[in-house]
Amino acid sequence: MELRHLLQFKDLSRVELDYLFDRTRVIKDRFKRYEPYHPLADRTLAMIFEKSSTRTRLSFEAGMHQLGGSAIYLNTRDTQLGRGEPVEDAAEVISRMVDIVMIRTFEQEIIERFAAHSRVPVINGLTNEYHPCQILADIYTYIEQRGPIQGKTVAWIGDSNNMCNTWLQAAEILDFNVHVSTPPGYEVEPERAGLFGTDHFESFADPMDACRGADLVTTDVWTSMGFEAENEARKKAFADWCVDPEMMVVAGAEAVFMHCLPAHRGEEVEAAVIDGPQSVVWEEAANRLHVQKALMEYLLLGRIEN
Ligand code: CP
Ligand code: NVA
Repeated sequence: MELRHLLQFKDLSRVELDYLFDRTRVIKDRFKRYEPYHPLADRTLAMIFEKSSTRTRLSFEAGMHQLGGSAIYLNTRDTQLGRGEPVEDAAEVISRMVDIVMIRTFEQEIIERFAAHSRVPVINGLTNEYHPCQILADIYTYIEQRGPIQGKTVAWIGDSNNMCNTWLQAAEILDFNVHVSTPPGYEVEPERAGLFGTDHFESFADPMDACRGADLVTTDVWTSMGFEAENEARKKAFADWCVDPEMMVVAGAEAVFMHCLPAHRGEEVEAAVIDGPQSVVWEEAANRLHVQKALMEYLLLGRIEN
């Protein structure tokens, strides 16, 4: 089988994404019926974390166990990666011992270098630039709650970070629109976002305008992991980019609210929104498990028709 990685969202084609969303439904339904399904028996996943995680670790580890395989957690603090072993050497070794690797790290370049020296599929579990597994879960959640995402509008409020970049890539492939509103100085950088064009996104100075008529409103922390030194400056710059009930009103009663979590109530989102009736954040978090099981199955076994 051809070696495939998921290093950024656009590594998957539209046909593959449609397959993965269909497959997620099948795998999730089986899981909900308590039907054992072990296509990855004897397979091992290595999970390398250079940043903290709750959801990503848990969903990959639980997902691999549920598919019949096993998962090994590695972090920078107590592996040789944290003591300067070249990432290329680590990739050569780790990929000779396991069947699939997930990495959460800093610059995208690190995971690209790892993948270039890996004999097994590598999955991006978040980098400074992208968070493809989260957007797989978010789009799957939208489809589950409201139907196809093609032609719909996503309002992104806040930082033009790894989540925002990945939404923008997804919009190009799946043909939906993203309305972005960031504070001045924190705008989208199309090259860093890895975009082919700018047809699928529009920038708005006022977050209220970005939300008007949106089908999905979403945001994320003002300061991402790795950027903690900017925290105080960001708190000042982002003060008006808090998703509040008025924004959900202009989006409309059918709009859903998403947040990849962890959230800071009173900063990027008001409690009334994230804990309110339009929020689907718990379904969104839970779907990390199901989409990633479909993804690991696809990268290791290819398309399955049952
Ligand atoms: N959303 C997400 O990736 O959460 P964790 O940082 O807890 O993995
Ligand atoms: N943008 C956030 C997402 C956390 C899941 C970060 O990178 O810290």
